[in-house]
Amino acid sequence: KKVRIIRVPFWMGSGRIGTELGPESMITAGLLGQLKGIGMDIVGDCEIDCCRHPSGSAGSGDIKYYTEVKDMARKVSEQVVGALQSGFFPLVLGGDHSVSIGSLAGLTGHYRNLGVIWFDAHADLNTEETTPTGNAHGMPLAIALGRARFKLTDIQGSNLVSKDKLVIVGARDIDPGERELIREEGITCFTMHDIDRYGMRNVMEKAIRIAGEGTDGIHFSLDLDALDPQIASGVGTPVPGGISYREAHFAMEMIAESGLLRSADVVEINAVLDNDRRTARHAVELTASLLGKRIL
Ligand code: ARG
Ligand code: MN
Ligand code: MN
Repeated sequence: KKVRIIRVPFWMGSGRIGTELGPESMITAGLLGQLKGIGMDIVGDCEIDCCRHPSGSAGSGDIKYYTEVKDMARKVSEQVVGALQSGFFPLVLGGDHSVSIGSLAGLTGHYRNLGVIWFDAHADLNTEETTPTGNAHGMPLAIALGRARFKLTDIQGSNLVSKDKLVIVGARDIDPGERELIREEGITCFTMHDIDRYGMRNVMEKAIRIAGEGTDGIHFSLDLDALDPQIASGVGTPVPGGISYREAHFAMEMIAESGLLRSADVVEINAVLDNDRRTARHAVELTASLLGKRIL
């Protein structure tokens, strides 16, 4: 498989610095060697030229750094489209989770009917009205579904994501407005409660079916805060009671086995907080499993 790595050194969607070092920390943790080790061909590695140092304040709008977020997303989208047109697998390295606005914009332009699996402690379904923080990384799915004022289709060439083809896995910190949106839209959200009750195997079988059946394939978005902070503390918004090391790997292996994976994001590693570099190392190992690494 030919993989195009798209590095997005962006933090402004998270409200604090640190995630702009995410791509670098994954490379340092051995991402390229891991991918080559499983026979991946890494072609046309690129870095998005996104704003690292704000000239002004976060702005007075509803989304902090709206202009910078939108500009970054447009550039990511262009690179994702370019990769897809060349037949390469886009692997987007964040950056905070607002980088997925760019991935999804590019992907929905290329695929008519995209499935999405979103691994996250959060639902990332806030709108300008419901956000408790104003941080764009809490909003990408509301934007992708067209439920926020900032819509995915504000980025040229994109289409909205279908709510029936979206699955959230690992959620345990959901804001009131997000809960309402999940109910209203009937979005599939497998919380930690569901993982405890049914096990990761059953949850992922359902998730892969929902996102993979009758679609053009699956986009997988991995927010490292989905993992339990005891094993991955290098994230800006840690929430206790997360996915275990083995559960996470097993989920990646199931997605790999499905043969339906079309692209992926790996986001929210905050290198400033990742003192033992364990979060970056887990991110690398999980990415390898996702792209087909087997134990035997
Ligand atoms: N729900 C909170 C908010 O809207 C936290 C979002 C965290 N998102 C993330 N991608 N880490 O700000
Ligand atoms: Mn997220
Ligand atoms: Mn999160």
